[in-house]
Amino acid sequence: MLLLLDTANLEDIQKAVEVYPIDGVTTNPSIIVKEKKDFLPLLKEIQGIIGKDKMLHVQALGTRAEDIVEEAHFIKNQLEGNIYVKIPVIPQGIKAIKILAKEGIQTTATAIFTAQQALMAAKSGAKFVAPYVNRVENISSDGVQVVGEMMKLFTLYGLETKILAASFKNVHQVHRCALEGCHAITANIEIVEKLIYHPLTDMAVEQFTGDWQGQYGKGIRVN
Ligand code: E4P
Repeated sequence: MLLLLDTANLEDIQKAVEVYPIDGVTTNPSIIVKEKKDFLPLLKEIQGIIGKDKMLHVQALGTRAEDIVEEAHFIKNQLEGNIYVKIPVIPQGIKAIKILAKEGIQTTATAIFTAQQALMAAKSGAKFVAPYVNRVENISSDGVQVVGEMMKLFTLYGLETKILAASFKNVHQVHRCALEGCHAITANIEIVEKLIYHPLTDMAVEQFTGDWQGQYGKGIRVN
């Protein structure tokens, strides 16, 4: 399962890539504006940290297919590396995904809330589809079940499109998506840190250190 970081915050990205097995970064317009920086230099700084071989997902803003395609060309021309243009699954977005797929530009269909939206985006040539798990659950539905339905459809029809589950508020949601066989997840640093956190692990480490130091007074040294 691929693990991406859903942020444009440089400190969070730096901290995460140093420690965790991060495969890329996802952004959206709301995430970008939070940083109060110029758009392209910020994206280039992100690539400077993660490397150009890692995925960087950048969202188009247009609501007409021509504008989305133009923005996708701009993003691709300005940034080198492994870029995915995120496009919401509105009708004009689907049209743009089809055009860009023919041109060989990688897209991620986003703002997805149902398995049928994902299926349409996949049929149109999107490389990834991004269901918003927690936002589904915010309105009393089961976001992980939606991801499970997508997995089932993509397997049934042999589609190569990958599911990049997004919008997580807790580790339980991530865990359940992983059990569904979800190809990729994107989450903020707080969730990523919690993926390995367990108080009993910290207690065990504290106990090992205390026991050892009680006898030897220091850590293990080769010399
Ligand atoms: C993913 O594509 C979205 O940018 C993001 O995960 C949405 O998350 P939120 O519901 O926490 O805003």
